[in-house]
Amino acid sequence: MKIISGNPFLKKEHDTVFIDSVSVNEIVSRFKTPLLIFLENRIRDNIRTFTNIFNSEFKNFHCYYSFKANFLTEICKIVNSEGIGAEIVGLPELNLALKIGFPPDKIIIGGPFLSKELIELSVKSKVKELIIYSLDDIKKINSIAQKLNRIQNICIRVNSQKYDSKLGVKLDKRDASKLEQISNNYSNIKINSILSHYSTQMNDLKQYKKNLQAIIDNLKLLSEYGIRIDNINLGGGFPEATVMPLDQLRIIAKEIKTTLEDSETHYTNIYFEPGRYFVGDAGLFISKVIKVGQKRWIFLNIGNHICPKFARCSLRFYNISQINEPHKYKTSIAGIIPTDQDVLVKDYFFTENLREGDKVLVANTGAYCLTFSNRFPYSLPKILLVKDNNLRQIFDPEIDKDFSLN
Ligand SMILES: Cc1ncc(COP(=O)(O)O)c(C=O)c1O
Repeated sequence: MKIISGNPFLKKEHDTVFIDSVSVNEIVSRFKTPLLIFLENRIRDNIRTFTNIFNSEFKNFHCYYSFKANFLTEICKIVNSEGIGAEIVGLPELNLALKIGFPPDKIIIGGPFLSKELIELSVKSKVKELIIYSLDDIKKINSIAQKLNRIQNICIRVNSQKYDSKLGVKLDKRDASKLEQISNNYSNIKINSILSHYSTQMNDLKQYKKNLQAIIDNLKLLSEYGIRIDNINLGGGFPEATVMPLDQLRIIAKEIKTTLEDSETHYTNIYFEPGRYFVGDAGLFISKVIKVGQKRWIFLNIGNHICPKFARCSLRFYNISQINEPHKYKTSIAGIIPTDQDVLVKDYFFTENLREGDKVLVANTGAYCLTFSNRFPYSLPKILLVKDNNLRQIFDPEIDKDFSLN
């Protein structure tokens, strides 16, 4: 069997594509396209690869899956069953994480806006940390924690110093002094972590180093004001596992460790919040060519409403109806939304023969596609979960209506 898209759970034998151990022919004979398919074994595989690498470098490594990458219940259940924590941005995700059974001491919550309801439920549920993006939120949390007679751990998201980043606190001496007073005067909060998340799809070691530098500089400033931080959180930003070679991930883990040692940074625990790395290459669309246009343009029955550019996926296209034909002829692929802007890719190497009705596999669509999808008036695709030779439908738009959280 030959591997497709560098993904050991996508293979071809003769002229048949296998999704884990299920033949794609079986799938398309049972279900209408477009379909979104997730590979349970690939998610587990990615989680284990990531945690093995970071556990081998760091004694006190903690991992929190970024729910926003893919918040489908069945996907989050898989993550929970692997012992990973949850990184949450809002109330609907928190309700879901608690319902699924993520232990509260493995849930961290933060975002640019923390509503009163979110803070209350977080404090009541005894979640591990609330992450603040603005120092003003600390007062709000302290007063809610006081009413609930709790001491809430707080993480400060610092600005990663990426040139255009608006997220997180740009800590200066005045802020550090304010934090010193806060720490001394507010008795229902404890500031014990800092987070810096740099970017998405980070392929370059330099990006990880810049992110780490933001942490190191801020820790230094805080320690000058007597604020002791136990935990450092480097966020997410890792590409799809098929895109990031294993050796590169190992190098990143080692370099982070060495840089921390060389800078004599004191910390107890190190956290990461991967999203895309766990689920990105565990999702794929099966779509269909609905029209062959001029100048080697083809139109698929998916588009940016369900496979959005915003998701920044490393899309890969395979003509599974002609899988043995060479994919070496430049082809542009448009989506089904009636606008010229619905372009999925331009000049992509594809089969010479372009035929209406051919089935096209679009790989690496497991992260952020559903999150950033919009309500363009087409039916949502059915969603299937494949494990070994089992196939389970986990979403049917006719029954479930919508996958949004509320
Ligand atoms: C604070 C934070 N942590 C983690 C993530 C997850 O990033 P990724 O899916 O690229 O690993 C994001 C994504 O935007 C984020 O903003």
